[in-house]
Amino acid sequence: MAKDRNENIKYLLEPRAIGIIGASANRWKIGNSVVRNIVTGGYKGKVFPVNPKEREIEGVPVYRSILDVKDDIDAVCITVPAPLVFEAIKQCCERSVKYGLVITSGFSEVGNVKEEREIVDYANSRGMRILGPNIFGIYSSKASLNATFGGGAIARPGNLAIVTQSGALGGAMAAQAGVENIGLSAIVPVGNKSDIDEADLLHYFIDDDHTRALLLYIEGVKDGASLLGALKATAKRKPVIFVKSGRSARGAMAAASHTGSLAGSDEVFEDVIRQCGGLRAENIREAFQWCKFLADNPLPAGDNTVIVTNGGGAGVMATDACEKYDVRLYDDFEVLRAAFSPVIPSFGSTKNPIDLTGQATAEIYTKAFDAAYADENIHSALGIYVESALLNAESLARVVEPNYERFKEAGKPLLFTLIGGAGTASYEDAARKKGFPVTTEVYDSVACLGAVYAYKRFKDSGPEDSIDADIDAQAIENIVAAAKQDRRTSLLSSEAQNIMKIAGVGIPKSLIAMTMEGAVKSAAAIGYPVVMKVVSRDILHKSDAGGIAIDLENREEVIDAYGAILRNCRAHVPNALIEGVEISEMVQPGTEMIVGARIDKTFGPIVMVGHGGIYVEVMKDVSFRALPLTRSDILSMIKQIRSYPLLLGVRGEKMKDIETLVDTILKLGAIVDKCEGISDIEINPLVIYEQGQGARAVDVRIILSRD
Ligand code: COA
Repeated sequence: MAKDRNENIKYLLEPRAIGIIGASANRWKIGNSVVRNIVTGGYKGKVFPVNPKEREIEGVPVYRSILDVKDDIDAVCITVPAPLVFEAIKQCCERSVKYGLVITSGFSEVGNVKEEREIVDYANSRGMRILGPNIFGIYSSKASLNATFGGGAIARPGNLAIVTQSGALGGAMAAQAGVENIGLSAIVPVGNKSDIDEADLLHYFIDDDHTRALLLYIEGVKDGASLLGALKATAKRKPVIFVKSGRSARGAMAAASHTGSLAGSDEVFEDVIRQCGGLRAENIREAFQWCKFLADNPLPAGDNTVIVTNGGGAGVMATDACEKYDVRLYDDFEVLRAAFSPVIPSFGSTKNPIDLTGQATAEIYTKAFDAAYADENIHSALGIYVESALLNAESLARVVEPNYERFKEAGKPLLFTLIGGAGTASYEDAARKKGFPVTTEVYDSVACLGAVYAYKRFKDSGPEDSIDADIDAQAIENIVAAAKQDRRTSLLSSEAQNIMKIAGVGIPKSLIAMTMEGAVKSAAAIGYPVVMKVVSRDILHKSDAGGIAIDLENREEVIDAYGAILRNCRAHVPNALIEGVEISEMVQPGTEMIVGARIDKTFGPIVMVGHGGIYVEVMKDVSFRALPLTRSDILSMIKQIRSYPLLLGVRGEKMKDIETLVDTILKLGAIVDKCEGISDIEINPLVIYEQGQGARAVDVRIILSRD
């Protein structure tokens, strides 16, 4: 995040004077609502409505033009129709206004990209920045500023800041926050994100002492690298919760037509946001719950959680949920027995879930919480209540409220799930609105505690320097340049293998033969068994073309395979230029992984790892991280894939060479980062051997960047 871009960002949310170009006396117009909300919202700064014919709007004197205003103005809301916006911005620039808040629609979201760009370029070149266009205005509790055109009241002032790409949803979220009694420090829509984006706003909120948690609703990311940098810094200080739509292909298309931004790959978004400390909620309800809890509660001191329940089944569900959301259940059964056996009936269970049985009364719950509260091995708790005759809905307040308060005081998160009929549901609703962390579904409570732990782990991870691989970028670029001269978009496999050699990635021994005799000689030099592959820039999918033969044991098999490969390839791609046949060592079996790196349209250089082989597309067992990378980033990326246990060794196998895998990922990342000519690299499979035995990059594909 460039400092100069954000030096004055404070004055976007805390303007000392604000103008409204397009103010109106007509209460049915947006230009009136904005003025009225500013005036009735208690804004202390100066207000300058601009309208060509009115004298006074909502009791405030009106100016014919912004040029007539003598005072300095930090921000101006624009509420004139699209064809008048550019002229209004030009006048703002003349008055050295710092921020233009363009409420008007009708720009890139409807294809009017050019004018939007011209407006932003004009403003930026004169030191002014643009929020929007296509926004509903902003709210900032610190400045008592409600410069939105929303009709309903904004939620009470509080600690949650909302940054939203959808204006309508932002308005609805503000209203919903009111219903849920969640206080807001700010709401900022970014609309078409023509200039100011989430990264700029994070730069403001990181230091804003009114904001303890942030909720970002995102449809698509434009400048991923800035977002990740800003997120990493902000998340170290306060939780940042994301709701991102466009998970599905259709959703992504809808997002593109809504705000004109590309959703990008959802899998990449999910992984890189997590890498930088962001928490991704499934929906707005969940996001509010996480924001509220994280803003109001200290983080636990350790990992150990206990479940206290009066229903065995609900306890089992909570146990499943804990596994899903990486909440670690305390399992020192001796300690648990010593702590809980005095308070539960002999037929209950102390084995976490602590099962108080259907006999549990409010007093028994409290005694169990006493034990969890007193035990320093226990750092957080989930209280589950399943409606029972012994503990009616009226008594629930005694279970929930004092226990939550004292646990909070002690720095131990305690969340409740209350399952039952109308009485239970009505208590849950009232308690939630009073600020108690109660839900009606165990998965909701556990997901929230999972977010608490994910955030704690990110915050606890000490500062770690990013690491880089030392590669000879110039030697690689020379190979790329030769291929580009031939107008190729990808490298031949022999060239790709050469690049691996330069980068120090293990490859199978190989030679290229131009004739049958050459093939036989090469095979003898490498040693049987061998693999043979066609070399042709015109044949990208060699196996589909019958251009590969494996496990060739002797001279005769090599002769047969040579003839077959040439015949198959000529039949499959008749005009293909065949540049020879590659003879390579038959790689010994090992654990097959896929490793890749590419320049992502949104996030810049990213790396990928997964379980390799021909079923990669079907298995979809891959994970991603963005550069720059720390060692922990790479290890967490490897641990994230489902097939990670294969690398640890299964069924008596030894541990695999994870060090070499880490090293290879780092090298591929460095190649795409440092060699401008390369946009994508993929090794599939990278065969990994036992620890200390290295790996072999069997098939390497390299795609060149478009000039
Ligand atoms: N300087 C100042 N005021 C001017 C002006 C100028 N150069 N030219 C016109 N005006 C005044 C108009 O006279 C009018 O005031 P009036 O009621 O006294 O006549 C006022 O500005 C508004 O102009 P008008 O032509 O009436 O526009 P409108 O109110 O019908 O629509 C927008 C303007 C911006 C609201 C509309 O174009 C729009 O974009 N609507 C969608 C907004 C939206 O949904 N944003 C995204 C939300 S998520």
